[in-house]
Amino acid sequence: RVEPPFVLTGEERHAIEHEVAHYPDGRAASIGALKIIQASRGWVPDGAIAPVAEIIGIGAAELEGVATFYSLIFRKPVGRHVIKVCDSISCFLTGYDEIRAALERALGIRYGQTTADGRFTLLPICCLGACDKGPTLMIDDDLHGDVTPDKVATMLEAYK
Ligand code: FES
Repeated sequence: RVEPPFVLTGEERHAIEHEVAHYPDGRAASIGALKIIQASRGWVPDGAIAPVAEIIGIGAAELEGVATFYSLIFRKPVGRHVIKVCDSISCFLTGYDEIRAALERALGIRYGQTTADGRFTLLPICCLGACDKGPTLMIDDDLHGDVTPDKVATMLEAYK
């Protein structure tokens, strides 16, 4: 299947130009610019790289490098809700394995996958800065702490 060519919307272009204006050089605006695309499309398609790089004034390959390096920039379509499970040391010690297993069981997917109904994508993430509440995870912008396997199903219910 051939994808239609990517075209920036006027709003996206405007928002990226606004972002660039905040920095002395365009390179510093790279992640912000990619986040603008992700906020409006849900992810960053390949076709977005060249036009965004042109606005911020860096090479497409350099922007591609940033997009690839930064794990919270999604390069494939994701579900309506993105679950990010903290796999850093404190959470690891307070029950990470059980939470990961409970999520994989409840959703029927593994890390990097999206449920068939397009509702959830499951990903690992490093420390969320709430180590005293481990194990932690984020669903979209919501932080969930002291998660236990038996809370997982109820927690997911809130995200349609
Ligand atoms: Fe999980 Fe810090 S280790 S929030």
